[in-house]
Amino acid sequence: MHHFHYVNNELYCENIPVSKVAGEVGTPFYIYPHATLLRHFRVFDQAFSGIKHITCFSVKSNSNLAVLRLFAREGGGADIVSGGELFRTLKAGVNPKKIVYSGIGKKAEEIEYALKSDILMFNVESEQELLKLNEVAERIGKKAGTAIRVNPDVDPKTHPYISTGLKENKFGIDINDAPRIYLAASKMKHIQVAGISCHIGSQLTETSPFIDAIRKLKKLVQILKDTGVNIQYLDLGGGLGIIYDREEPPHPKEYGSAVKDELGLSGLTLIFEPGRVITGNAGILVTKVVYTKFASQKRFFIVDSGMNDLMRPSIYNSFHAVQPVTLSNRQKVKADIVGPICESGDFFAKNREMDSFEPGDLIAIMSAGAYGFSMSSNYNSRPRPCEVMVRDDQFYIIRERETYEDLVRGEVIPDFLMENE
Ligand code: LLP
Repeated sequence: MHHFHYVNNELYCENIPVSKVAGEVGTPFYIYPHATLLRHFRVFDQAFSGIKHITCFSVKSNSNLAVLRLFAREGGGADIVSGGELFRTLKAGVNPKKIVYSGIGKKAEEIEYALKSDILMFNVESEQELLKLNEVAERIGKKAGTAIRVNPDVDPKTHPYISTGLKENKFGIDINDAPRIYLAASKMKHIQVAGISCHIGSQLTETSPFIDAIRKLKKLVQILKDTGVNIQYLDLGGGLGIIYDREEPPHPKEYGSAVKDELGLSGLTLIFEPGRVITGNAGILVTKVVYTKFASQKRFFIVDSGMNDLMRPSIYNSFHAVQPVTLSNRQKVKADIVGPICESGDFFAKNREMDSFEPGDLIAIMSAGAYGFSMSSNYNSRPRPCEVMVRDDQFYIIRERETYEDLVRGEVIPDFLMENE
């Protein structure tokens, strides 16, 4: 139950018809039911009840301030990967002592910003980064809570672009090199070794790769202990998958009990970095049909949203269900839903059976709450859509639709080009 449901043939988000919101804010727009966001966060967090843990929402999946604020109020932390994400989380009121910072290319100024903000832990991804972290911390007189992000070399069995824990991936440090680097880190004056982290991939639909990774991490904790390096936090990353189509991912409870079976007695504080499992099915993209077109046996529904608003289908060929905002008994046809952008990759659905839509009809692109708006761009100079949060029968614009002026903000024509020759 995602709080998107039909009442009298009309798609509702909580207790408000999606078409009503469309009438007021225009199309396209993203819409998130508050109740679903909250429930998904709680279900995940409660899956680890009875064990010390922090649920650090992965900001990259949905970075809207209102969404971040909601989880902060639930006691959630944040997994960030840039100075910009840190800025957002602090603005939303996330407790810095619950912020973990991953990413392979942290710049000195970003490190400094995070140190000054007193975040919990840096998930360090290379030896050079470790040296830089120690150096910046020394310069400003701080000690950096540090975990080494290790690459455990397990196959997450997901799309290659979102698989991160294999030897061939650019992320983390080879788990076999970790003991040596931990020993070096433990001797650095401004590094406080706090944890071990790993993230093996996204949209995982089985628990076994997680368990394989945990077993390798447990071994590493022991090896480190034997050399006098004590670990307090184990950061297991994010990655739990969701249902887009016919996937059968483990329920967070199932994932939780598998993790507890492995680590329940370890005494470690666990950190999780869930993104998609919380926001993915708590958001949809609503778009309107502009034209329909029938060309050489192919039917196209051309809509007013495109790959700039939701990139997932074009870059991962990923599946998003499409649903009519108003149910009808129109005939079903096989068609493509495509956007207005000048690229063949600009599609939301290909060769799918759907209603025979007409211009003016509203279509809901489902499961768009994670990596939807947060990956959007202004390509083709398209102002980005607005984002709306619904609570019961009220809706709130949590990000305004961009204007044409927004598109050129910061652009400058140098004087010499202003002169007419
Ligand atoms: N932690 C780290 C270090 C990550 O790199 C990621 C995602 C997460 C946590 C959250 O993973 P999740 O729980 O959402 O699976 N744009 C792609 C997904 C890229 C994931 C990148 N890292 C997509 O649209 O499928």
